[in-house]
Amino acid sequence: MNARYVAALDQGTTSTRCMIFDQRGRMVTVAQHEQRQFFPQPGWAEHDAEEILNNTLRVLPEALKSAGLLTTDIAALGIANQRETTVVWDRLTGKPLAPAITWQDTRSSQIVADLQRGPHRVLFEEVCGLSPAGYFAAPRLRWLLDHVPGLARRARSGEVAFGTMDSWLTWHLTGGPDGGVHATDVTNASRTMLMNIRTLEWDQRLLDAMSIPEQMLPEIRSNAQVWGTCVAGMPGVALGGALGDQQAALFGETCFSAGEAKCTYGTGAFVLTNTGDRLTGSRHGLISTVAYSLDGEEPVYAIEGSIAMAGALVQWFRDALEMIDSAPQIETLARQVESTGGCYIVPAFAGLFAPHWRPEARGVIVGLTSYVKKAHLARAVLEATAWQTAEVVDAMNADTGLAITSLKVDGGMTANHLLMQMVSDFLGIPVERTLVSESVSLGAAYAAGLAVGYWPDLEGLRRNWHRAGRWEPGMTDALRQRRRAEWDRAVEHTLGWARE
Ligand code: G3P
Repeated sequence: MNARYVAALDQGTTSTRCMIFDQRGRMVTVAQHEQRQFFPQPGWAEHDAEEILNNTLRVLPEALKSAGLLTTDIAALGIANQRETTVVWDRLTGKPLAPAITWQDTRSSQIVADLQRGPHRVLFEEVCGLSPAGYFAAPRLRWLLDHVPGLARRARSGEVAFGTMDSWLTWHLTGGPDGGVHATDVTNASRTMLMNIRTLEWDQRLLDAMSIPEQMLPEIRSNAQVWGTCVAGMPGVALGGALGDQQAALFGETCFSAGEAKCTYGTGAFVLTNTGDRLTGSRHGLISTVAYSLDGEEPVYAIEGSIAMAGALVQWFRDALEMIDSAPQIETLARQVESTGGCYIVPAFAGLFAPHWRPEARGVIVGLTSYVKKAHLARAVLEATAWQTAEVVDAMNADTGLAITSLKVDGGMTANHLLMQMVSDFLGIPVERTLVSESVSLGAAYAAGLAVGYWPDLEGLRRNWHRAGRWEPGMTDALRQRRRAEWDRAVEHTLGWARE
């Protein structure tokens, strides 16, 4: 093979990026465009799928150009994507038939409440491994079928395609507007509430329970497998599969053995622990999910603690409150003070995810006094991410019966040293940052590279992992417990605010 590099497309909640990696897993270049965020009503969150497609078709050639490369230098392209965000499009024109409803959107809460109360709740838990929640794709798809005029009828007659961002982009990258491959991967499918988590196939009982026409669903494929050849963006390059972004980060962190865990800090924050071939049900508010499935091998599972707001809270602090001009400034501001001055911010903007799962919860700031300045609030914004990480790691320890002894971290927010120290302090364990903090993209590149034989096996990938930072806990147990009890009380206020 002459191609010297592998490319990854990371279609995230805030932006679309293309990164190119060499054989040692080093990033050669990156091109990125942010997409607009639409919040048309409280609790609603939308993207424009066409804008995301256009950004994709820009970043792929831009990445090549910035590194002076040709498509023939690229062995394969892998996709990692924001999961659960739901797109429906016309199979003939390739045009979206509604705004993409993102994973942060809470509009399907009534559909979910009905499922929770109805006869099928246990069926969902047993078959797809998920307790019905508005976080997953199928309730959003049901909402679209109910509210977009003519959509349900057209879906039944086979004119409409559904997918998450991996499917939407694959369709266009492999076939132009009128359609290429209509596929999704096992990790994205495991977040729909429609896939049988053991057989890795769509389950007719779940489709019937939600009245979703099977003909609109993509084909489910494994992760490191050639799905087709790009005709747009990077024409001629093999599309070596896709993964949901959090599973991609687990893969990029080379957490290939049971018990290995990582947390990725992006728009949200997501802790995943590899549980091997064991499907671990959670009794503490976590999600059983597919970690990855390599062609011809048994699937590997993970248990996940999903936090909806991490970087998104910093973004809100910057854009909505205008407290800072750029995200990195929050660290400088927060370092001006030693504490939060007694205040806590609980960012339940989209309800609370793991381990609480309360869609009706809303954000609170508690403990305000005249003493509290902007810098204290900045510190409370960062602490919110660290306390939420502590909550999900506690739940994970309780579920697995094993204590996580150190946590691998990645994602943009890991550049914030104060935040990483807080995470270590609040968890009481060391935190380790990898050299390539863009593990999402690296994981997608690894999967695509494995698909075409650019990398021979998982062991070779492990050798690419290098530690670039480590933080040790420096807080007494007594202080940690006292502060945690205060955080827990603050969380109760978000639930107290919720209307039943
Ligand atoms: O489940 C949602 C998740 O995939 C979004 O990830 O990186 O955009 O916060 P991110």
